[in-house]
Amino acid sequence: MRTNYSDDFPLLKNSWENGKRLVYLDNAATTQKPAQVIEAVRKYYEHYNANPHRGAYPLSEKATELYETARERVAGFIGAGSPEEIVFTKGTTESLNLVAGIYGMDILQEGDEILISIAEHHSNLIPWQAVAKAKGARLRYLYTDENGKLTQEEIAANITSQTRIVAVAQVSNVLGIVNPIGEIIKKAHEAGAVVVLDAAQGIPHMQVDVQALDVDFLAFSGHKLYAPMGIGVLYAKKEHLSKMRPLLFGGGMVDDVSEQTATFTDGPAKFEGGTQNVEGAVGLHSAIDYLENIGYERIGEVENELTQYALARLNSMPYVTVYGRESGHNRTGVISFNIDGAHPHDVSTILSADGVAIRSGHHCAHPLMRHMGVNATCRASLCFYNTKEDIDVLAGSICKVREVLKLGAK
Ligand code: ALA
Repeated sequence: MRTNYSDDFPLLKNSWENGKRLVYLDNAATTQKPAQVIEAVRKYYEHYNANPHRGAYPLSEKATELYETARERVAGFIGAGSPEEIVFTKGTTESLNLVAGIYGMDILQEGDEILISIAEHHSNLIPWQAVAKAKGARLRYLYTDENGKLTQEEIAANITSQTRIVAVAQVSNVLGIVNPIGEIIKKAHEAGAVVVLDAAQGIPHMQVDVQALDVDFLAFSGHKLYAPMGIGVLYAKKEHLSKMRPLLFGGGMVDDVSEQTATFTDGPAKFEGGTQNVEGAVGLHSAIDYLENIGYERIGEVENELTQYALARLNSMPYVTVYGRESGHNRTGVISFNIDGAHPHDVSTILSADGVAIRSGHHCAHPLMRHMGVNATCRASLCFYNTKEDIDVLAGSICKVREVLKLGAK
């Protein structure tokens, strides 16, 4: 059984400028890319680059074929009923803005409720604030308990007959807690609401089947899934997508344009005005091939073992507070923590001198930070190419922080 996957990722073989080995623990922000994804993108530019859907010559037809094959691959990967339900976007943020700004804007009426959780990334929060304000709808929150969990009681008490849209993260980008999505979708549908799932932090770690979940909309980014930046996905049930207006007007999304009016094409192309990111789609296709070759089961085993190891190391330090303490399979390897007396930015700077890359700050989740009563946290986020040695370097570096900052022994 293979135990080390880091060799597949050329960047991980690099050193910092200070000569330290790179210990990359910022995978929730973006993942590194395997050699086969980099190679697929290089091959695309060396052999197949042309503007898709616009040329009758073989090169353009090949670019179109690659783009549409990637769409089919994504549809199969998430269990969609048809590639026609897959819209390529720039990333999760654009996908969620499309749902809120078009679908939400058209269906919501004054007094309707939009329900999100307090643990949403700003990209699944601010678009809903904007649409609520524009339509006189009410934006309501599900609050996490002291362990970072959304309880069944909280869900049952807040999904009501007023709820029209429930928009939640599959996994918190701050706490790594896996939310009870099945329960939320069931309750929302019983109340007649639609569900928008932000899968940005979930799909890199666990299998998602949109039909089994019966979710209405699902968003994710390629770059957190070992694919290039600038490509993302919005899955939408056909019944919703066919009713939605386009967001971006331009080339490639029209049927006919006259001086004063235009009609638009059906299907995902309606939402993909302008020249599309074929390179990104090709890279995403290759990343999905790479992931499925390893398999989610194996990815889950490796990541869970690493996460338990990291939690044990961090929890053994009396001056470290780990947020969202739930262990086991209901969390991913996103670990937020603070060190007594130390500002997270100082911590990440000290760690970076040892080659350790983590993120510090509010993680685009201001309301969650306030709910937790902190200004900021440090966040180490693991994935299957990390190793126990990476965690040892992280733990060793954390041990030094209070000494470097002259905070005294604890
Ligand atoms: N959304 C990414 C994160 O949480 C950037 O780090």
